[in-house]
Amino acid sequence: MNKKDHLLNFLTFATQQPQGFVYRGSPASALAPGTNKQTSPDHKKKQLESLFMPCVHCTACPLATQGRNQVVFGHGNSNTQLMFVGEGPGRDEDEQGLPFVGRAGQLLTKIIEAMKLTREDVYISNVVKCRPPGNRTPLPHESDTCKKLLLFKEIEIIQPKIICTLGATAVQALLGDEVKITHARGTFHLYNTIPVMPTYHPAYLLRNPDAKRFVWEDMKKVMERLKELGA
Ligand code: URA
Ligand code: SF4
Repeated sequence: MNKKDHLLNFLTFATQQPQGFVYRGSPASALAPGTNKQTSPDHKKKQLESLFMPCVHCTACPLATQGRNQVVFGHGNSNTQLMFVGEGPGRDEDEQGLPFVGRAGQLLTKIIEAMKLTREDVYISNVVKCRPPGNRTPLPHESDTCKKLLLFKEIEIIQPKIICTLGATAVQALLGDEVKITHARGTFHLYNTIPVMPTYHPAYLLRNPDAKRFVWEDMKKVMERLKELGA
């Protein structure tokens, strides 16, 4: 690497550090690309804010002009081991600006609490951040645009130990469009190096309460794996 690249890398590194950061390390570790291992909770929170801030009026996909009130970003504990990914905001989420706060969200809260966790322990996000009109499924182009713009980067910042996808849109966004939720659920898959447990969407459970037992089986596997990881 030449001197100019070294300097640019260092400047990038420095601008990513929390306020008040004093550099005392070895230049080699600071200058090498991809070695920014600064992962304090506060730092992740700031990184998420920097990711979301430029997108509050996002117009990158057609959902920008189809009746959304606001962009609904991921929310929760940025230092979590466990991240949930849903499809996209519904009416309540679009009104309140928070993910999973409507009826399906209340069921998700119950699921989380049954796992002996709280919503504050986990991070909850969606594939698309703007409400699709009439709560239709996001179109492939919408999911594709938004996941590259935000979801993939949220995952990169948070580095959860496990991701639980809720429903078909979320599992397909992370594992591929050909994946079928009924086949994929119940076993761990990989997104990059992160274990992914696909399960049914809570909105599906509201229509099909019998499927709750499958979700509970899946969540027990998540809990076991978290325990193995010492979480
Ligand atoms: N359904 C989702 O997929 N996400 C939400 O945030 C709410 C309902
Ligand atoms: Fe932007 Fe995502 Fe909203 Fe589309 S859904 S406008 S990509 S924030």
